[in-house]
Amino acid sequence: MDEVTRHHDADAHVASVLRTLDPDRDRPADVLAAEHLTVGFGGQGVLRDVTVALPRGTVTAIIGPTGSGKSTFLRTLNRMNDRVRGFERHGDVLLDGESIWSPSHDLLAVRRRVGMLFQRPNPFPMSIRDNVVAGVRAHGIARGKQLDVVAEIRLREVGLWDAVKDRLHGSPYRLSGGQQQLLCLARALAVGPEVLLLDEPTSALDPMSTEAVEALFKTLTPALTLLVVTHNLGQARRLSDATILFYDGELAEHGATAQVFEQPRDPRTARYVQGLVG
Ligand SMILES: Nc1ncnc2c1ncn2[C@@H]1O[C@H](COP(=O)(O)OP(=O)(O)OP(=O)(O)O)[C@@H](O)[C@H]1O
Ligand SMILES: [Mg+2]
Repeated sequence: MDEVTRHHDADAHVASVLRTLDPDRDRPADVLAAEHLTVGFGGQGVLRDVTVALPRGTVTAIIGPTGSGKSTFLRTLNRMNDRVRGFERHGDVLLDGESIWSPSHDLLAVRRRVGMLFQRPNPFPMSIRDNVVAGVRAHGIARGKQLDVVAEIRLREVGLWDAVKDRLHGSPYRLSGGQQQLLCLARALAVGPEVLLLDEPTSALDPMSTEAVEALFKTLTPALTLLVVTHNLGQARRLSDATILFYDGELAEHGATAQVFEQPRDPRTARYVQGLVG
């Protein structure tokens, strides 16, 4: 056996051992996938035949003009549109290979695994501490004194602990906008989601807070898979592995972020990333 073959065999062996240690080894490589997803409200089409998969542990950005269906897409992925008047859907969304509408996935379970953060921070009208543990409590993940531990861990994780440790029982509405968004992120992370959907998560924040929130997003992968809608093209480039362009309800482009920005395949993408439409 020559040296090269020996190295190759050793590499293959290491790879196979690592695979057996990987908790995700029996799961599909794509944590979430839309398949021929068509969505409308009361007969008005909004999304047309969208097929896209999110590889586990990656960041995908969604860009596109206003009204192109970005938020509708995100909201459909964790069933937030289910009860919206007139909501109609064809096609499917698979979570670990299984439809999010299948009876074996109840709504709460889907929401727990696929979390969401909105443009405007939306703390609940309760104390800072209770905000962080609201989902944990609702899902029965922890209770009593454990909740204080969970709150501290999550607040430390998002870098808010020092700022709020002396006012855990105070109102979240006295925090700055950036801090409120971090609080909402702590709340979303506390239930242990696998996917986080982020709809323009920093557009209501000042540049300093945006930087802090972006830096935090980077620490969340590969443990989590992120899908972030943004009008900030710089943010899409900084954060994402892959970028999707929605245009008038269609997926116009989907590829590695560098490719989408530097060598777009679709003329609509080229115009959009050059700032000619928006
Ligand atoms: N509940 C609803 N009922 C009827 N129409 C809706 C509903 N939600 C969204 N739409 C329509 O779907 C289209 C896409 O809206 P959506 O909010 O998904 O766009 P977007 O890409 O997120 O835009 P923006 O960049 O402005 O946030 C719009 O024409 C909107 O009016
Ligand atoms: Mg939107």
